[in-house]
Amino acid sequence: MSSGSIVTGVLAPHPPHLIYAENPEQNEPQAECGWEGLRWGYERLRRNLSKKDFDVLVVYSPHWATMVGTHFLGVPHFKSVSVDPIFPNLFRFHYELDVDVELSQAIHDEAASQGMVTKMMTNPDFRVDYGTIISCHLSHPAWDKPIVAISSNRAARMFNNDYMQVNAIKLGQATRKAIEKSGKRAILLASNSLSHRHFVTEPPLPEDMSKEHISHHGQYLWDMRMLELMRAGRSKEMLDILPDFTEQTVAETDSGALSWLMSAMDYPDYAAEVHAYGTVIGTGNAVVEWDAQSQGVTP
Ligand SMILES: [Fe+2]
Repeated sequence: MSSGSIVTGVLAPHPPHLIYAENPEQNEPQAECGWEGLRWGYERLRRNLSKKDFDVLVVYSPHWATMVGTHFLGVPHFKSVSVDPIFPNLFRFHYELDVDVELSQAIHDEAASQGMVTKMMTNPDFRVDYGTIISCHLSHPAWDKPIVAISSNRAARMFNNDYMQVNAIKLGQATRKAIEKSGKRAILLASNSLSHRHFVTEPPLPEDMSKEHISHHGQYLWDMRMLELMRAGRSKEMLDILPDFTEQTVAETDSGALSWLMSAMDYPDYAAEVHAYGTVIGTGNAVVEWDAQSQGVTP
């Protein structure tokens, strides 16, 4: 079998506001506009992905939080309604998706063989988390490819950000090995925001962009530092400071998603393309693509 590969890796944040503002037919609430900078960034990403041949999307989400080990979806098909618990006024999304259980199991087994605590999620009534759904929809709204969804172990909360990162790096290595053995071409999605301090009240009109800005200048400076390192191809240096960044900005990188992505891609030393940066209720969000294929990194 030919070797599988990671075609592209994406930092693909999941604010429900972006779905709300885009008005896809699956979402019940309707908006007039909003967060165009980020949404047009996702459009540019989609144009790039549409030129690529791939078999599966592998997504790691902060909102499938597991306290004991890392879990993987193990049911071939899901259909239900996803409601954001914080923003039910913005996100009530009817989803239907297929899971590549074979690859899911393979990553699970590879991680287990490295000593990680793992579990396949086999409950057919499980409600897929909104982080997984939003990142997948914004990256590839056709829903015509199966996904692998990976949970976020809460190691950062139970221990600290350094311990979280060590585990996420191990999981990234297992993910890469399993994909290579599978012969499949995968797109990886790290579903997280950058800085994550946010406002605690919502304007009467959620899409009123006169109310949208970064919550604090210090958060902006940190986000720009991280993006500069990504754009310079200095991913190892970016990971070196990621635990401090996470601590200082309450970043959603505490999930391990970005560390997992960088490890799975073997620490890219080429420039990432930042398709967009923008704020959502004061949090920093960037749509960033590491196009491994264009770098000749993948077969
Ligand atoms: Fe989130």
